[in-house]
Amino acid sequence: MEYENDDTWRRSSSPKEVSCHPIPKKSTTTAVIVLGLAVLSCLLGYCVLSETLPYESKTLRLVIIFFRHGARTPVTTYKSDPFKNYQWPDGLGSLTNAGKLQLYELGKKYRNYYANFIPEEYYEKEVYIKSSDKSRCMMSAYTFLAGLFPPSERQMWHPELAWQPIPVHSLPRHLDNVVAATKPCKVWKAMYNELLDEKNADPKFTEIFDYLSKYTNQTMRSVLDVDFLYSTLQTQQEAGLKLPEWTKNVFPHKMKVPFMLSLALLSYNSTLQKFHTGPLLGEIKQYLQESVNHINIDRSLYIYSGHDVNVVSLWRALGFEELLEPEYGASLAIELHEEVEQDNFFIRLFYRNNTKVEEPMELKLPFCNDPCTYEKFAEYIDLLVPHDWEIECHN
Ligand SMILES: *[C@@H]1O[C@H](CO)[C@@H](O)[C@H](O)[C@H]1NC(C)=O
Ligand SMILES: *[C@@H]1O[C@H](CO)[C@@H](O)[C@H](O)[C@H]1NC(C)=O
Ligand SMILES: *[C@@H]1O[C@H](CO)[C@@H](O)[C@H](O)[C@H]1NC(C)=O
Repeated sequence: MEYENDDTWRRSSSPKEVSCHPIPKKSTTTAVIVLGLAVLSCLLGYCVLSETLPYESKTLRLVIIFFRHGARTPVTTYKSDPFKNYQWPDGLGSLTNAGKLQLYELGKKYRNYYANFIPEEYYEKEVYIKSSDKSRCMMSAYTFLAGLFPPSERQMWHPELAWQPIPVHSLPRHLDNVVAATKPCKVWKAMYNELLDEKNADPKFTEIFDYLSKYTNQTMRSVLDVDFLYSTLQTQQEAGLKLPEWTKNVFPHKMKVPFMLSLALLSYNSTLQKFHTGPLLGEIKQYLQESVNHINIDRSLYIYSGHDVNVVSLWRALGFEELLEPEYGASLAIELHEEVEQDNFFIRLFYRNNTKVEEPMELKLPFCNDPCTYEKFAEYIDLLVPHDWEIECHN
């Protein structure tokens, strides 16, 4: 793994609020002893921190967050699926209540984490949110924002509803080459198909393909087929459905590598990244550049709501080659910092595996020194940003 888990720099030496054991008022002596013990146990780290420690950084200028939507129902079924006719209350591919809650909690986590950076009140000029046009992504963005920006007293507009509307922007899927990256690109598609065929022909997958074909009663000759089946089994299992016996031999363990490979193929190498992730990188580059040049200085936060493949694509485009399975609500956060005295900007990258993580994990950018200067980061990104996407795609 390329990254390290370093959380020492973020902890202030004297935590803001600490709740210890209550002190009984029997006598001063016992009180002193109990207090002494309480302080000691606090020093030994037995205290419960009453809230997540807020982010302490005077150098932070801009944050760009990209997350995956929350838990969903299956998108597809398969031939021998015993739950083919299962009635999902909200239909296929929809965000579940658990999924809504996950993103709400993630919003609250980011609110606590960046308490000293993200303004408490929502102002349009400070935040911009983009989503894939899929309902589950839009809805995830909305519950995330409910957690991130609960209305202040001034912003309450209804006495019973501690929620305020915050705009989420999206383009129809056939026009979106930034968030969901579903806008058709001819050159990319041909290259992707070529790579998919190559990977599918890998003899190491023959056994799993044979096994799955036999038990699903349908042709399973591609990592993409495994990808769909994996997601279906996973979501059925999460819903408490009892999977057929045959799945026990292969799910999740043996299906995991072909599944993750399928997600990775869309942005597998730098050429594919240029077409599939380049437009997003171009946008990120522009936002960082503006901040470095003190343009649009009120804007401190950009948020993207997308899919597992999009998180993987961004991860790969940022130079990581390990296969990744982003959980629901997994997020990447790019931070721009400024060292005013040195007149120097640098980039930090963080990953949260899921919505439960308290402290995000810092990732060391493989193409960059530590700290990674803005110049070096921009230089790398520029190689992956197409000059004219439409023309280069031969659309
Ligand atoms: C498999 O598919 C064939 C042809 O569609 C069908 O006749 C058979 O009943 C199926 N078997 C199972 C176990 O679903
Ligand atoms: C990426 O993979 C595609 C498909 O295999 C190939 O055509 C292209 O040349 C590769 N690019 C690089 C930089 O390896
Ligand atoms: C988070 O994800 C990374 C990458 O897949 C993995 O290496 C790490 O062990 C995960 N951490 C936890 C706590 O699951």
